[in-house]
Amino acid sequence: MKINLRINGQSRQFLIEPNEYLLDVLRKNDYLSVRRGCDNTSCGVCTVLIDNKPVPSCSVLAARCENKEITTVEGIEKEVEKLAKYFGELGADQCGYCNPSMALTVYSLKLENKNANIEEVKEYLVGNLCRCTGYVAQHEAIMKYLGDES
Ligand code: FES
Ligand code: FES
Repeated sequence: MKINLRINGQSRQFLIEPNEYLLDVLRKNDYLSVRRGCDNTSCGVCTVLIDNKPVPSCSVLAARCENKEITTVEGIEKEVEKLAKYFGELGADQCGYCNPSMALTVYSLKLENKNANIEEVKEYLVGNLCRCTGYVAQHEAIMKYLGDES
C-alpha cells in the first residue's frame, strides 16, 4: 500500500506493508538518525515527533500516519545545534546514541512549555533512556537550552 507523509516539511510517498512500523519505514528510507534500541517501546531511542508530539516510532504502524507531519532531528537543525552546544559545555555527551531522540523530545517540550522546571523536564523525558550519562549533566544542559531565547 502507499502512504503519504510530510517529513521535515517535505511531502513523501512510500510503498509499505500494512504491518510495517514507522521506525522500519523511516530507516529503510535513509532516515538513519531514527535509531533502533529495544524495539518494544521501552527505551525511546526511536522517538520522532508526530504532529510535534514525541512518539516511539517502533510502536506506530506506518499505515496510521497518513498525512501526518513527522519530524526527525534533520528537521530541527538549528535547535539541535543549540542543544549540542550546552551538552558539550556541560559534558553531557557520551556515546550519543540517545541524542537524536532526546533532542526531539526536548524540542517538543520547548514548544509546549519553555518555562518547564527541572522536575517537569525529568517527567517529560521519562521515556528517553540513556545508558551512559546518569542524566544530571543532560538535565542541566536542557535547562540552559530551554532558557535560550536566541
Ligand atoms: S526502539 Fe522504540 S522504544 Fe526502544
Ligand atoms: S549518551 Fe550513550 S546512550 Fe545516552
